[in-house]
Amino acid sequence: MKLQVSKKYANMKPSATREILKATSDPSVIAFAGGSPAVEAFPCEEVKKITAEILEENTVSALVYGVSEGYEPLRETVKAWLKRRNNIGTDDDVVIITAGGTQVMDIATRVLCSEGDTVICEEPSFIGSLNAFRSHGCNLVGVPIDSDGMNIEALEKAIKDNPDARFIYTIPNFQNPGGTTLSLEKRKAMYQLAKENGIAILEDDPYGNLRTEGEDVPAIKTLDEDGIVIYAGSFSKILAPGIRVAYAVVPSSIAGAFTIGKQVSDVHTGVLNQMIVERWFKEYDVDKHIDEIRKIYREKINLMCDMLDEHCPEIEYVRPQGGLFLWAKLPDYVNMLDYCKRLVDNKVAVVPGNAFIVDESKPCNYIRLNFSTPSNENIVKGVKIMAKVIKEYK
Ligand SMILES: Cc1ncc(COP(=O)(O)O)c(C=O)c1O
Repeated sequence: MKLQVSKKYANMKPSATREILKATSDPSVIAFAGGSPAVEAFPCEEVKKITAEILEENTVSALVYGVSEGYEPLRETVKAWLKRRNNIGTDDDVVIITAGGTQVMDIATRVLCSEGDTVICEEPSFIGSLNAFRSHGCNLVGVPIDSDGMNIEALEKAIKDNPDARFIYTIPNFQNPGGTTLSLEKRKAMYQLAKENGIAILEDDPYGNLRTEGEDVPAIKTLDEDGIVIYAGSFSKILAPGIRVAYAVVPSSIAGAFTIGKQVSDVHTGVLNQMIVERWFKEYDVDKHIDEIRKIYREKINLMCDMLDEHCPEIEYVRPQGGLFLWAKLPDYVNMLDYCKRLVDNKVAVVPGNAFIVDESKPCNYIRLNFSTPSNENIVKGVKIMAKVIKEYK
């Protein structure tokens, strides 16, 4: 007997990233396709020490059920840290701990959308979030991005054409995959448009702390006098992704519904993992750690960009000021999917850009490159292979 999946899931394709990532399980393949932070940035010794201490001192509390909103000391720590570091959150906002930032997108969609509702998002955008929206039967409307983030005229038109849209999804800093950062003027314009049209904003910011050049731009959440912005942050990129601890800063008007969404999803995030993050803050200087890992990323971004400039002048891209990704445009005479396949044959994996497009059938001549996962040696080797393969098309 063949089991039937629901209509919602029947229309969802496996992510192209995952398919290409399969190729990266071969250790001889150079992975420019991943999305993980650099392993050398993980505070391994600290996590080992903290975990041993927790299990020694708080064994039972780490093993019992916790509350759905999250481990209270961690919620308080995150709330105070966000306020001090980025001026994010008001007394009215509620911090809820989640199992990864991805879960914020899932719960926010459950809470705000009914089947068939519209979500407006950047195009291209993070495939994990697009799939979360699709899994709830949402209709996605993509808005193109410029070098300073979402195109506001196109956003205005998307709202006009879809007045019942439920929320605007944006990745304001070092967008995945675009690498762009939304300018302050555009953040203000987006907020104003959302407010005037009664639409929420889902601000997904896993990369804001990974700035390697330039000045931080205030979060859209800092403009939120009207309680319309849900802010999502994560410890995946500054601590370690396997810990699966992230957070949502949620306006109080929907905090109750959001907590129910969390209960339905997984009851609560693992208590031990939440305790590890809370103790990490207590025993170490997290801001200093962030400054240190930024140095690792600065070196890797510069290396990949310098290599591309030297060996692949036919590839266009905007040098990112942080984050983990570079969005690279191939010349018109190169077929993007064919190039990705030839690269895998030559032991380099990149992500085909169409994976991040709302309508995957639209033409797309971009690829996404990740510079955090490969070693510096493999960045050099991999870009040289990219250059060799692209020359085959001439
Ligand atoms: C834009 C964006 N949002 C959310 C996430 C999810 O991260 P996590 O679930 O590990 O917190 C990612 C991960 O790559 C991402 O790129």
